[in-house]
Amino acid sequence: MSTTNGRGNDSKTWFERACRVIPGGVNSPVRAFQAVGGEPLYVVKGSGARITTVEGWELIDFCGSWGPLILGHAREEVVAAIREAAAEGATFGINTPREVEFAELLCSLIPYLEMVRLVSSGTEAVMTALRLARGCTGRQKIIKFDGCYHGHTDCMLVAAGSGLLTGGLSSSAGVSPAVAAEIFVAPYNDLAAVQEIVRREGRDVAAIIVEPVAGNMGLVPPEPGFLAGLRVSADRCGALLIFDEVITGFRFGPTTYGALCGVTPDLTCLGKIIGGGLPVGAVGGRRDLMTRLAPLGPVYQAGTLSGNPVAVAAGLATLRILTREQPYPALERLGAQLAEGLTAAAREQGVALRCARLGGVFTPFFGAGAGRNLAEVKQCDTQRYAAFFRGMLARGCYLAPSQFEVGFISAAHTPEMIADVVRAARELFAAPAPAPSERPA
Ligand SMILES: Cc1ncc(COP(=O)(O)O)c(C=O)c1O
Repeated sequence: MSTTNGRGNDSKTWFERACRVIPGGVNSPVRAFQAVGGEPLYVVKGSGARITTVEGWELIDFCGSWGPLILGHAREEVVAAIREAAAEGATFGINTPREVEFAELLCSLIPYLEMVRLVSSGTEAVMTALRLARGCTGRQKIIKFDGCYHGHTDCMLVAAGSGLLTGGLSSSAGVSPAVAAEIFVAPYNDLAAVQEIVRREGRDVAAIIVEPVAGNMGLVPPEPGFLAGLRVSADRCGALLIFDEVITGFRFGPTTYGALCGVTPDLTCLGKIIGGGLPVGAVGGRRDLMTRLAPLGPVYQAGTLSGNPVAVAAGLATLRILTREQPYPALERLGAQLAEGLTAAAREQGVALRCARLGGVFTPFFGAGAGRNLAEVKQCDTQRYAAFFRGMLARGCYLAPSQFEVGFISAAHTPEMIADVVRAARELFAAPAPAPSERPA
């Protein structure tokens, strides 16, 4: 058996080996391709906007590791920072100067972040924010939104999006009913529903948590006034407002979406981009709240690898590049080119397609009209998306392997690549759908 990088084996063989020792063959459910069919891919390399599979297929990548890789794969400056930090020692479990610089940088780039605690994943960031909200308010209940995903902490798996939608599960087994009972779920973009919950239960609500741009039921942007309305509702009942910016942080500008749209949450969860491809999460916000965390306050939180020097080095390098190079206008142009190109190509062939987009983030929805909440996006044709995914894969383009996810354009994508992708889509819309087993030529 090969133990190296897969030469001599194809993705199918690796998946068969994986299935014997890893549940479902994957370490995160959506990677199993259950929503789109076909064999999951095995990748050996990424460079810029492209990934290479074990078979040697080169694909234009719109997954970007589910969001962290806004600069593309293996950006030289980030790799150099990782190398340098790793050579000095991968972890100490003792404070390092880099984590202070990183926290200072985050607080300087996000105007309302007065203090920040580093963790190792988005899930941990959310878990900490919720515990802090409960610890600070002395209340237990949480309002969340249908189709928003906040990681796999127990209480956030109620009506969650992402892989749970793909699997057709509205919730997970193993979550105690008592935990689920503390979560109120409202439709996204529905302020009236939130106001009704607040009217009935407001005095017990610790926090309202929301993805300020929903990215785990496909892309669903907030309607004007929605986020500001949540701010008002939270204030009215004395709950904290938590923005889960694990996807949106540093995605649309060198700061959070909250800072860009002018709505200030009490706590912010970060992840993905701030780790530059390595495992980093963060929770930050008002000083009076953050100082309730241990060791200053009674709300406990800890982590063996929190503030890991190598991960923080990757994050620092990434944020410095983003602030220096400001790729955001270019991402907006590439996003527009892709969404307009796909929509026009579909229209020419009489294919009903709505491409939701914000900056360089997009989701093609087939056969669906509106998309302001989960109930509406679930009207879309997921089989048509699966065929689109397979057809585009066969033409060298790797999209999100589920309808209910978003695609990410990186600073390494070029107008020429986007033009190639649109050309491939036009060809695909004019051709019959490929079989699930079809692979890149
Ligand atoms: C909005 C949001 N919050 C939290 C998480 C959980 O982050 P992680 O997978 O790093 O635990 C995700 C993951 O996709 C996410 O999209």
